[in-house]
Amino acid sequence: MLGGIVSVLLAGASVSTSTFSSPSTNKDAIFTEWCHRVGIETPKAELRTTKESVAGRGVFASQDVLKGDVVLRIPEAAVLHNQNAALYFPETAGFLASKKQKILKERRRRQRWWDPRTLWRRLRPLPFEKDNLEFVDPSEDLWQMELTLFALDVLENASVHPWGLWVSEWYRDDPMQRLHQTNVQWKNSVEIDGCIAELQEMLPDANPLTLRAAVDLRLRRLNALKNLYDVHHVPPLDTIYGLVISRAIELGKGIAGVIPMFDMINHSLEPNLALSFDGSAFELIAQRNIAENEEMFICYTRDISETINTKKKSLWDEVSAVWTLVQWGIPTLPEMGDVKKMTIKSSARENQNQETEDDDEATIKIKTFPIPSWTSRRKTRL
Ligand SMILES: *[C@@H]1O[C@H](CO)[C@@H](O)[C@H](O)[C@H]1NC(C)=O
Ligand SMILES: *[C@@H]1O[C@H](CO)[C@@H](O)[C@H](O)[C@H]1NC(C)=O
Repeated sequence: MLGGIVSVLLAGASVSTSTFSSPSTNKDAIFTEWCHRVGIETPKAELRTTKESVAGRGVFASQDVLKGDVVLRIPEAAVLHNQNAALYFPETAGFLASKKQKILKERRRRQRWWDPRTLWRRLRPLPFEKDNLEFVDPSEDLWQMELTLFALDVLENASVHPWGLWVSEWYRDDPMQRLHQTNVQWKNSVEIDGCIAELQEMLPDANPLTLRAAVDLRLRRLNALKNLYDVHHVPPLDTIYGLVISRAIELGKGIAGVIPMFDMINHSLEPNLALSFDGSAFELIAQRNIAENEEMFICYTRDISETINTKKKSLWDEVSAVWTLVQWGIPTLPEMGDVKKMTIKSSARENQNQETEDDDEATIKIKTFPIPSWTSRRKTRL
């Protein structure tokens, strides 16, 4: 059943990229209507399937926009995150909570070096594939499986669920996502070789071994998450996992979520929009004047813009570039040009005395994978 839905969804998605029409297809109009139904306000922006977009589909200014204007407003209740999803899917939420408890308990046990089982592991390491916690950091990675399972629940009854239309339109087309869609195992080297060759074409200067290590870790982490949660729906789980991790952002306090409409905006190192949270809704605010029909962009990772676009430029390294390629299919070369640093503020609107939990900027931070732990984990293994 679920496999059926997902293959229809993927087939639909690939059709939509080859049959462009300008400026807005019927599918986009239906999506816009959906936005309004779930309370998303689109004062100055709209989704369009058009060749004008860098990726075939993107969000455009529907009229002239002035710097500081709110172009989109997304109520928090429309965001797919754990707490909202638990209201719709209490059974899955209960399952996830009990697994999480178990995983955290095991993690704590391993941190006690004097624990007999920990000592035994030091003496006699477990077979590689059994040691799932080696590839999953419980404080960093569990949201990936949580959001994936909730998204699968949404798709199970996509025609009736409020998020159904939106999640059905999730789409990503790059070598890593195609690899996930084949439901490949980390052991299966033929498919992986093909993926690495494609990634290499996109980022010719990258060391093939670094590429392989990144692809390998992504697959092993997914495999480890499947084992820890004991879920093995195939192949839609892998497909949805790839989509979730490229669309989710960290919403502060360890909560990750996917924000509808925001997730349809394409990436640029020179974004013209910034995300802001006013306590009840996410707003996309123009960072400069934007002309009608211009495409709007965000920068998918603050880390990239901060390292590339500031004096820390030299810190942008091959590992970060490779990881960005694997996570989003974006080939970001270390010598990308000078652009201004993107600001993400928890409360960018002026004249509001509303209390927010945190006045500092950067309460909302784009979720990227922890590159340092990735390298250190590889080091311990190679
Ligand atoms: C989908 O709908 C069916 C029938 O109403 C229901 O039994 C099932 O639990 C729903 N699935 C989810 C994940 O909510
Ligand atoms: C641009 O947005 C579309 C969805 O609107 C998405 O399918 C595509 O992957 C995005 N492009 C990039 C480079 O992320």
